[in-house]
Amino acid sequence: MESATQTFRCSDCGDLLEIHYPRWSGAHVTGLSVSELKSAWIERRTSSRAEDQSGVWRFRELLPRLKENDSPITLREGNTPVYELPMCARVAGLDQLWAKHQGMNPTGSFKDTGMTVAASVARQEGFRWVACASTGNTSASMAAYASRGGMRSLVLIPEGKISWGKLSQALDYGAVTCQLRTDFDGCMQVLSEVVQRMPVYLLNSVNPYRLEGQKTAAIELLEQLGWTVPDHIIVPGGNLGNSSALGKALLELRDLGLISRLPKLSIIQAAGANPLVRMIRSGAQQLEAMPAETFATAIRIGNPASWKKALRVLRETGGTVEEATEVEIAEAKAQIGADGIGCEPASAVTLVGARKLFRQGFIKRGEQVVLILTGHLLKDPEFTLKFHRGELFADSPRAEQAKALASQQRAPIVLEADAGTVIKALEAAERQPAR
Ligand code: F0G
Repeated sequence: MESATQTFRCSDCGDLLEIHYPRWSGAHVTGLSVSELKSAWIERRTSSRAEDQSGVWRFRELLPRLKENDSPITLREGNTPVYELPMCARVAGLDQLWAKHQGMNPTGSFKDTGMTVAASVARQEGFRWVACASTGNTSASMAAYASRGGMRSLVLIPEGKISWGKLSQALDYGAVTCQLRTDFDGCMQVLSEVVQRMPVYLLNSVNPYRLEGQKTAAIELLEQLGWTVPDHIIVPGGNLGNSSALGKALLELRDLGLISRLPKLSIIQAAGANPLVRMIRSGAQQLEAMPAETFATAIRIGNPASWKKALRVLRETGGTVEEATEVEIAEAKAQIGADGIGCEPASAVTLVGARKLFRQGFIKRGEQVVLILTGHLLKDPEFTLKFHRGELFADSPRAEQAKALASQQRAPIVLEADAGTVIKALEAAERQPAR
């Protein structure tokens, strides 16, 4: 692939490219019927081959093919659990609530499912360097897959606006990491010029191969649910690649006859980075970029590249959009933690969304709802510590509103090294309600 074609946009209409599979026909893919496909995917789980153990390449009939004899760069990504969230269900007012935890991927976020495909394509095309702009998770994932695949990686991140956990991953996996004095959208702009001028392969989610890999989370979810279609899937929205990818999978599964109806896929943004929500609520036809600000740094994006694809998914699945304020995100994250699961702040917008959509009647009692948790709790420990120490909203205009969070907070207690003192702390805690 020439570096000049790396905008991944159509030269006629300017829209982002998307991968289509013209040879899929009716209920047959690569000669297999729907039921043969389903059993082939299950059988691979007991295989010792890397491609079969990967929760992405296990579904390879629905993915781009690599050249013959070329094996993918895989860290056995995917294979992430679906958990029930009983306490979160209660706070959302629902009878039951489920979460597919994409934070249980090898580098702790959903990005790995896309990176295994796009990094493998990069290596196949002969690139020595890959690059991305990132709010942290893409860079961690890209750096890992590049190293595993014998490639070098260049990371552009907004200075001071990504979590230490993510930054440290990129460093350890060997990326050349540049902290630019701008935001994510500014990093994207700089990178688009770099890839035009240098033979470096762009691994942001404008790269359609990324989205093909990310599709598999929806396929795996349906398989885990025994191919029973949930009523709602709720996803955080940043650059809007993931919602587009999951939606593409659902439409393909429906068209191939693997499922008979579509779940409603809804997208939740942080209120401080909500260009899609604004666009839909105002009835505008074009997305208007905005300056973004949120503690949920993963989705601190004001000019999402994949908004047109996401819009199509909302329309085709009948989903909707919502937003989560900073205080709501912090509270929801602690509630997901209290279910013994945990996630990073950006993922917690999904619980806020579920609660709001249930109150609005968009989600009905008895319907099955699945949240997509996109990143691991340990991605952003600073946020979690500040939250529990009551420091997150100190000196902010939200300090008053944040007082309501006190019952969720469990700050570490510093004590003398003495059993009696610890027992007193235990007794004091016993008198307080568990969260
Ligand atoms: N959740 C997490 C944990 C993320 O890292 C991201 C995006 C999203 C949700 C939103 O997904 O962009 O596909 O709509 N992180 C990117 C990054 C932008 O650079 O790591 P999206």
